[in-house]
Amino acid sequence: MKTIVLLYGGRSGEHEVSLVSAASILSHLDLSAYRPILVGITKKGKWVLQEEVPIPPETGSMSGLPLAEKGRKVYVLPGAGFAVESPSGSVESLPCDLVFPVLHGTFGEDGTIQGLLECAGIPYVGAGVLGSAIGMDKQVTKELLKGAGIPVVDSILIHAADWANPGFFPSLARKIEARFGWPCFVKPACSGSSVGTSKVSDSQTLESALFKAFLYDEKVLVEEFVFAREIECAVLGNDKPKAFAPGEVIPSHEFYDYDAKYSDPKGASFKVPAPLLAEQNEAVLACAIKAYKTLCLSGMARVDFFLDKKTGDIAVNEVNTIPGFTSISMYPMLCKDGGLPYPELIDSLIDLAFERFERRSELRFSYDS
Ligand SMILES: Nc1ncnc2c1ncn2[C@@H]1O[C@H](COP(=O)(O)OP(=O)(O)O)[C@@H](O)[C@H]1O
Ligand SMILES: [Mg+2]
Repeated sequence: MKTIVLLYGGRSGEHEVSLVSAASILSHLDLSAYRPILVGITKKGKWVLQEEVPIPPETGSMSGLPLAEKGRKVYVLPGAGFAVESPSGSVESLPCDLVFPVLHGTFGEDGTIQGLLECAGIPYVGAGVLGSAIGMDKQVTKELLKGAGIPVVDSILIHAADWANPGFFPSLARKIEARFGWPCFVKPACSGSSVGTSKVSDSQTLESALFKAFLYDEKVLVEEFVFAREIECAVLGNDKPKAFAPGEVIPSHEFYDYDAKYSDPKGASFKVPAPLLAEQNEAVLACAIKAYKTLCLSGMARVDFFLDKKTGDIAVNEVNTIPGFTSISMYPMLCKDGGLPYPELIDSLIDLAFERFERRSELRFSYDS
């Protein structure tokens, strides 16, 4: 029996989303094959062993796993796996064969946890350090995709330091008007779940949108507004990734904002699979695989597209290396529709994590002439 540490919560604007994803993964985990250990990460970044594995909520429930903030602290030790505070105050090792980071956004999906686990020598589900860091950064993602000839949405990059320049706002507004006009989208380069993202209809509201976005990152993108259908594609695998038939999100709000995603039960409807023309379907699948390889991803990712309602053109909007995992989240729904039900999806992710770990363990990390 393999011991799987589920890391959940996290120091991220998407902490609450992680609690729901973790509940869902726990409720679908094959307990005859895996022994779960829950490690909750508080919003301040403390790692706490959850003494009891709660009975997971019913499959399909949207309630999150509880996260006890008080309890024995968990540590990751370089070269030595996990340790936990013992009742006497010393530390003892915590068994762990593999980590499933069920963490969305900063300090979880961005390569930081992955780096920690690499140093500790622990296999983990999902993309490695580089792929995670790239996938988290929408600007770096765009640059790499453009380099590979994959269409992306036009944008202007702004650094926090630019604010200080006199005349910054009028000149930015002129640049936006000349390049793509209003409305436009303002979003932190590294964020998720639409946190810090605004649709901006004119130059008057630009400053407050930038202010909001800069709360979450030092780099902000001002993006051309695309009047588009939102198409999402699940990709699974390491060297030979497979793309599942894409789905469609139809937000009922002005855009697919945080409330539409998580608070309003009627915030969006989903179509699985998305009603697409055969050639659109093929283009999305091919583009998703190419993007996955270009961005150095492994394990899994959801590649999100805009399909322009006027021209029918597709562009990659962003990738999510740890996509939402509730049972009504798009990633597991697409896999299920493609013949891989949730429990088997978890098995595949775990197998892929071991496969990647074992392959990399054969690399040399010393120079023997
Ligand atoms: N350029 C754009 N044009 C139109 N809608 C957009 C644009 N950028 C983002 N959106 C809307 O905002 C949502 C969140 O933006 P996204 O870039 O996907 O960030 P996140 O990582 O927070 O999901 C999208 O699902 C879409 O509804
Ligand atoms: Mg998105």
